[in-house]
Amino acid sequence: MIFSLTEEQLAVRDAAREFAQKDLLPGVIERDREMRYPSGEVRKMAELGFMGMMVDPRYGGGGMDTISYVLAMEELSKVDSSCSVIVSVNNSLVCWGLETYGTEEQKQKYLTRLATGEWIGAFCLSEPEAGSDATSQRTTAVDMGDHYLLNGTKNWITNGGSSQVHLVIAQTNPEKGHHGINVFIVETSWTGVVIGAKEDKLGIRASDTHTIMYTDVRVPKENRIGEDGFGFKFAMKVLNGGRIGIASQALGIAGGAYELALAYSKERQAFGKPISQHQAIAFKLADMATEIEAARLLVYRSAWLKDQGKDYATASAMAKVFASETAMKATVEAVQIHGGYGYVKEYHVERLLRDAKITQIYEGTSEVQRLVISRSILSGQPYVGVL
Ligand code: CAA
Repeated sequence: MIFSLTEEQLAVRDAAREFAQKDLLPGVIERDREMRYPSGEVRKMAELGFMGMMVDPRYGGGGMDTISYVLAMEELSKVDSSCSVIVSVNNSLVCWGLETYGTEEQKQKYLTRLATGEWIGAFCLSEPEAGSDATSQRTTAVDMGDHYLLNGTKNWITNGGSSQVHLVIAQTNPEKGHHGINVFIVETSWTGVVIGAKEDKLGIRASDTHTIMYTDVRVPKENRIGEDGFGFKFAMKVLNGGRIGIASQALGIAGGAYELALAYSKERQAFGKPISQHQAIAFKLADMATEIEAARLLVYRSAWLKDQGKDYATASAMAKVFASETAMKATVEAVQIHGGYGYVKEYHVERLLRDAKITQIYEGTSEVQRLVISRSILSGQPYVGVL
């Protein structure tokens, strides 16, 4: 077992850390307060190659492994999860889905622009009445011969208002259940695509989350991804990797809260010594560090399994459920360690606490992750752990 990172992976982590500290930290509180989409920061992330990290350089990507992506996500999320979710959706859901299942023409036309960050992508699965129960799609795409006619409403769409490309999941053949679902590449400039109001959220407030309406949108036949009926499988497979991205976001939030709490506890004096010297605080820090390290091992391992070409669906669900619960616990404790200062915006930990919550909800709630894990361990094919 080798628990060390390569020189290249360390360089990616350091670059992401430096960027997050220098470029994301200064305006993060204002962007959160004003719900201001970080367009300048996204441009810089594109210049640094964070928008298509794992994509083959032939299509404009960085050609990196999933571990490098996770390390970058972790560092960005220590500071600004509004920015890191934009990175995560574009990399894990949109670019990976297109690169893995798209045609050469689709890759040339769309992936090349998405991987460089010239365009931003969104993944449109959730609907007002299809969240965890993702097979209950009401959005329809009717086969009209040379095109599909798309109608329906999607909600909670990250990058909804700032994206040029949507991957839209829609029902094409209701009697076939989930085998009658397809996924389409939709350009947001097309007639009939309407972007609803931006959601006013508890956390990740600078990321733009929208309801999207599609009314009689003509989608060319060549914009369907995969064989007829592949859409639900596409969504599930893409989400397996997306969960690694969100798990690494949760890990970063937990790590960011821990680092702030550790630094504060060494400075803040009470009863004649730094509060870190009081066992009540020292033990909190010990628990935080231990849980974060356990989460890190699960997250890195799920990324490693993906890089090895092994099955990672269960591992990524485990990583996400554990890392997101760790993020919740660590941010609550970080606020507690800061006392009153933790409850105000200036000290950052209250934002990290608000941001942590979404990691238990999007790309499959904690309940969905437990469903994935329990089905796997009860399936008769025992879950293969580390050995
Ligand atoms: N990987 C690969 N295939 C999978 C799979 C997985 N993890 N889970 C299910 N499948 C396949 C099954 O093998 C089955 O295929 P066959 O019919 O060919 O055998 C098919 O999909 C249907 O599977 P199930 O019968 O298990 O489906 P289900 O209706 O019971 O649902 C579920 C399973 C796990 C609950 C699924 O619906 C799910 O993951 N729901 C959560 C959806 C979700 O994560 N939404 C997030 C929205 S995206 C987002 O948040 C992005 C953002 O903006 C940040």
